[in-house]
Amino acid sequence: MANEKTFYLETFGCQMNVHDSEKVVGTLISQGYRQVESVEEAGLVLYNTCSIRDKAEQKVFHRLADFRKLERQGKKFGVLGCVAQQEGERIFARAPHVSLVCGSASYRNLPQMLVEVEAGKRSTGLDDRQTTETFETEFTARSNPHRGYITITEGCDKFCAYCVVPYTRGRERSRTSDAILAEARHMADSGYTEVQLLGQNVNSYRDPLRKKTFSELLASVGQVPGLKRVRFTTSHPIDFTRDIVDAIDAVPTLCDHVHLPVQSGSSRVLEAMQREYTREDYLERIAWIKAARREISITTDIIVGFPGETEAEFEETLSLLDEVGYDGTFSFKYSPRPNTPAQTMADSIPEEEKARRLAVLQEHQKQIQTRLSKRHTGQTIEVMVEGKNRAREQLIGRTSQNKPLNFTVTAGNPEPLPGSYVRVHVSASFPNSLLGEMVG
Ligand code: 5AD
Ligand code: SF4
Repeated sequence: MANEKTFYLETFGCQMNVHDSEKVVGTLISQGYRQVESVEEAGLVLYNTCSIRDKAEQKVFHRLADFRKLERQGKKFGVLGCVAQQEGERIFARAPHVSLVCGSASYRNLPQMLVEVEAGKRSTGLDDRQTTETFETEFTARSNPHRGYITITEGCDKFCAYCVVPYTRGRERSRTSDAILAEARHMADSGYTEVQLLGQNVNSYRDPLRKKTFSELLASVGQVPGLKRVRFTTSHPIDFTRDIVDAIDAVPTLCDHVHLPVQSGSSRVLEAMQREYTREDYLERIAWIKAARREISITTDIIVGFPGETEAEFEETLSLLDEVGYDGTFSFKYSPRPNTPAQTMADSIPEEEKARRLAVLQEHQKQIQTRLSKRHTGQTIEVMVEGKNRAREQLIGRTSQNKPLNFTVTAGNPEPLPGSYVRVHVSASFPNSLLGEMVG
């Protein structure tokens, strides 16, 4: 069809961005667009961008440069998300073939903005950090039919010294518990069995109608008929309260996994990062989690090479890894970000030293995971089936603790379908996954 409106969307960054993209796709489809799988087929090319570290930010400019020549074919280009919000109209100067720049707090205006872009104009949607609205849309094109995200808070008011998010996603605001529960029920009625509650800091959730605290909301979502697994991410230690662990104890559908970013094991560095807790405060929360009735798996985020981090302080992070015993860590070299207080801090750590610390930390954590993962060998664990690895003739499953558990099915037994739940006997463990055979 000659006049058909088509778009291609590539997403960078976190789960919030992945879920925003699902809403953007839904919105575009509601406006008569069709999604295509390649830049070449598309009339409109969109990038939903991330600016958490410099490397992530550079990706979109590389992509835009790669496809610049396609502008001559009449293609239009748009930049959405965190780089759009951060760079604003400067993007037009750097990539003149871009005609749409839209931060995440302005997605509700996309339909009008698209009309302008189609008419050959430029359109910009930026938040001034004042918005108190959340993006409520009935048009969410979820990409997986079994498990899906639900936004509970948007934005962030924490202002950690290194972090760009408060500047790219605006003020922290929560959706009403009524809206969240209605979405969870609707998803359960449509066949979803797993939901993940999303926010930059879900623990600071504040119901605008004051009906529920975060842990009460968690418990209520966990009791929605039809849902078998409820996850939440991401947590902030300062707002992580004991009643969250009580809720996990009380409601079996709440998954036995907590992602609790620590960033550093040194109280001095934590203070410089403006994290508002000490190593001891953090370990107190870990003790609550470890005292739960079910074994809860714990994962974290770590930054190495924050300005002024000494070798001894870095080693405090290594000893924290031993003390907590994480089942997984995401670790990063500190990357200076625009507008943040840390950007101008003295005593920056040379790039090679950051790289060395990162490699040491990752190797250290790998040893820990190799050791800890062994506890699962011999256990029988329920997994949600996610798909099949045809090359290896294995099914791919995920445990409630959020670990990949790949498994085989005994000859003659029917293969379980994606989205189903089966029990698997674990026969081997690796640092990042488990292997087993389906039971029964
Ligand atoms: N440099 C490196 N890592 C960062 N993170 C956030 N900001 C930066 C930065 N400027 C990491 C934190 C956070 C995760 C999502 O990304 O560990 O928890
Ligand atoms: Fe990247 Fe942070 Fe924006 Fe997510 S919120 S896309 S991690 S900058």
